[in-house]
Amino acid sequence: MAPRGALTLGSQPAAGLPARAIRFAGVRFAYPSRPDEPVLDGFDLTVPAGSSLAIVGQNGAGKTTLAKLLCRLYEPQAGAIEVDGVDLRAIDIESWRERITAVFQDFARFELPLADNVAPAGAPEPVIREALAEAGAADLAALDTVLARGYDGGTELSGGQWQRVALARALAAVRQGAGIVLLDEPTAQLDVRGEAEIFERILKATRETTTILISHRFSTVRHADRICVLEHGRVVELGAHDELMARGGRYQTMFDLQAQRFAEEEETGLDVLD
Ligand SMILES: Nc1ncnc2c1ncn2[C@@H]1O[C@H](COP(=O)(O)OP(=O)(O)OP(=O)(O)O)[C@@H](O)[C@H]1O
Ligand SMILES: [Mg+2]
Repeated sequence: MAPRGALTLGSQPAAGLPARAIRFAGVRFAYPSRPDEPVLDGFDLTVPAGSSLAIVGQNGAGKTTLAKLLCRLYEPQAGAIEVDGVDLRAIDIESWRERITAVFQDFARFELPLADNVAPAGAPEPVIREALAEAGAADLAALDTVLARGYDGGTELSGGQWQRVALARALAAVRQGAGIVLLDEPTAQLDVRGEAEIFERILKATRETTTILISHRFSTVRHADRICVLEHGRVVELGAHDELMARGGRYQTMFDLQAQRFAEEEETGLDVLD
């Protein structure tokens, strides 16, 4: 393993990973600008291959940091992320990034035809159409419509429509063999109902795929196989929705609070964004 800048360059191929599990084992991580304030310290979490995990927690809990570590934008200073028992640093970085389809809040928007936004590296048309349908964007525009004004026949999308296109991109990648789907709040511009609907669609479309959904909302992820409640870089609760509701802890409190606000929104007709 040769270091390139701060990142270690492994050589093992990522094809087929994970077959068993992704595991954060005793991970310590501090951002370079704040080396003495670790965001994660002794962090443990296992995601069984083929299952879905939701990570919920309030602003600054460390959710995006976990996502960045998993995409290998940074490396832990202690402990390791293991994929089927192999240290992620031993795996070829490009090959790993091809395995993961990640959508972040500031996902890319290309001034290109819709088809190229869904599949930047190309995909058969049925794959693109099915991915758009799964993302709830079947009737958005013709596949050759450029997603920007100023082009012949071009059109501008709303924030919510762009989010569906970004999700279709992830779903098309799954259909073409990506092994891990990671969504870090690409749905934050949607209201609670919109986010819940998108997460449900994603979970349906990725039953066989290892899927990680990140949200600061507790009321949109109930259908994930397991939900991990993160606070100050620590897992404070972990389990399925029903288990966590029965436990009557943090998740249940936050779920009820947010569900109550959601009910108020239904009554008043006002959008609840958080
Ligand atoms: N590039 C950075 N440099 C230094 N500190 C950072 C950096 N990015 C995040 N942090 C800090 O790390 C901690 C965790 O941030 P992170 O972005 O992982 O939280 P989050 O759970 O994703 O929050 P949010 O819900 O706001 O997206 C916070 O204290 C944050 O200020
Ligand atoms: Mg975040």
